[in-house]
Amino acid sequence: MAKFQAPKGTRDFYPDQMAVRTWITDCWRRVSVRNGFVEYDGPTFEQLDLYRVKSGDEIVSQLFHFVDRGGREFALRPEMTPTLARMVGARAQGLPKPIKWFCMPPMFRAERPQRGRLREFIQWNVDILGENDVIADADCMFVIIDMFRELGLSPGQVELKINSRALVASVLTIAGFPEDQLDPVYAVLDKRDKLPGDAFAEAIAELTPDKRQQETLVALGSARGPQGLESVRKLINGNEPGLAHHQDLARALDLLAAMGVGEYCVFDMGVVRGLAYYTGIVFEAFGKGSLQRAICGGGRYDKLLAGVGGPPMSGVGFGVGDVVIQDVLTELSLLPASIGQTDALFVIDVDPKLFERVLSLTSELRGRGVAAVYSYKRQSLVKQLKQASTRGAARAVFVDRETADRDVVGVKDLGTGAQASIPVRALLEDPYQAIEESA
Ligand code: HAM
Repeated sequence: MAKFQAPKGTRDFYPDQMAVRTWITDCWRRVSVRNGFVEYDGPTFEQLDLYRVKSGDEIVSQLFHFVDRGGREFALRPEMTPTLARMVGARAQGLPKPIKWFCMPPMFRAERPQRGRLREFIQWNVDILGENDVIADADCMFVIIDMFRELGLSPGQVELKINSRALVASVLTIAGFPEDQLDPVYAVLDKRDKLPGDAFAEAIAELTPDKRQQETLVALGSARGPQGLESVRKLINGNEPGLAHHQDLARALDLLAAMGVGEYCVFDMGVVRGLAYYTGIVFEAFGKGSLQRAICGGGRYDKLLAGVGGPPMSGVGFGVGDVVIQDVLTELSLLPASIGQTDALFVIDVDPKLFERVLSLTSELRGRGVAAVYSYKRQSLVKQLKQASTRGAARAVFVDRETADRDVVGVKDLGTGAQASIPVRALLEDPYQAIEESA
């Protein structure tokens, strides 16, 4: 008989893995809500053209697409931003601004599965729409760092590289690159860190034979930190739109510093991002040291809403996948050992004749919202206790003849081993009360 496996690049979430996924998504939801975002979702598939037009070649080459019986072309969503733009565009007038939305649904990309990259993954998206000021960019980037802090990731372990595509465009235009050559230049700059030294130089030489233009690209590729920002200001040479983009970027960095997270942030001209719709500030978070890889990315998109038929409205946002977050946390041993442990009470009959009492006590606990379980089999105390510990229960509650007569139960903390007798009423009122060893 055929033996089936999960398709390449997808995951089965057995309860242990599901517990980790839920732990991560709970963190994302907490961080979203405390930063003032509300949750939304959209369809798992959209018209193929939505991505063809908006996402850029790389994503389009990775689409899972299909044709329905009416000959209409669809694709499983590889990212959320086009859907978000479509949804907000359709109701733009009625939505109070700024629009601060988040979601964390599964995405699908027909990528070659590799470390941190799968064909189905969960992606947290956080976006602010309807606010042109750079305060929205800073507020959005703050959310990434708030997540890092929530997960225990320090500035020594991760950094947020920040740039502006508009600024790069100004520098390139001043250096004489025609508009239609900007996209290929972005692609080369974006890959700078993945290319060995010579390959970057070769890619630059292929883009332009002009030595001064080549020098500009080398300078762009290595501009980083406060000094880099200053050297770019010189490259702009008083050009007004260029100066405005430079000021925006500098202000975003100042705002992040005022928010107390400047240590995580660095200007880096090499980050231009692969997606086609970014127009302004762009950013990408990376692991440092041995964790060298992209963790999440985003940026400002000025023309996307109008591009999908909505009114002109600007947005800024980012996406982060669960795969890379889990990898990073595992590598740094930051996933708490307690993930997946239940706080359930395991109700045990010491005497099988008291099983009905076990059922009624369990039912009462559940009625009060307390997780309570019991063994389906009438078996020895030792076996029931073993089952309690394999199920990860927090406490065992013993129902025996002697205590049943007095309406008390024995309670054992399965973590510390502390044990005491307490009245049933007290247990129902406070099932996790501290247990003081009875004499
Ligand atoms: P993206 O850079 O394509 O941006 O993806 C953002 C993040 O999603 C990546 O940094 C990574 O954590 C995760 N990710 C992407 N592809 C995969 C994959 N195949 N497997 C696992 N994780 C993956 C976007 O998707 C933009 N729509 C983000 C955005 C939101 N921009 C504005 N708002």
